[in-house]
Amino acid sequence: MGPTTGFVVFLLITLACLGAVILTGRAARRAAHLSCVAAAVACLGVTIYFAEQLGGLYDLEAAGWITPTHLILAKVTVVAYLIPVVTGLRTIRDEAGKGLHCKAAHLVIALTVLTAISGTAMVLMATPLGAS
Ligand code: HEM
Repeated sequence: MGPTTGFVVFLLITLACLGAVILTGRAARRAAHLSCVAAAVACLGVTIYFAEQLGGLYDLEAAGWITPTHLILAKVTVVAYLIPVVTGLRTIRDEAGKGLHCKAAHLVIALTVLTAISGTAMVLMATPLGAS
């Protein structure tokens, strides 16, 4: 699978997994929720792999300010995934943590959407390498 197809396919699968994470979390289906979290994190890893391959096909610096903005946002988003993981594990032990977990979940979903939008803008604004 080429970098462009791989990136688009795994980004869509990751977003679908995140949708399933939210639905199973809201329905309190804990086992399914954890399986969907594991699938989303695995697919996110594959999406990042293809994103790096895709980046190698473009002069990303030519895209200007959007490139450092996207790269910072992407790193912040990956680290932010630790927050719902930690609050989720706490919620298993103590239901009182559910509100905080819910807020953390909304935060990482918003960050994921922003990262996807800024990454798409970066590729669109970059110059393909080898273009004359
Ligand atoms: C290891 C990671 C995680 C664990 C252990 C975990 C655990 C839990 C638990 C125990 C609940 C409460 C279910 C109940 O009411 O019985 C819950 C709800 C929920 N989780 Fe997670 N979760 C994890 C990761 C995530 C992630 C990464 C997201 C989204 C990005 C997420 C989104 C949600 C949502 C939206 C709810 C429903 C909150 C509500 O409306 O009450 N979870 N989770």
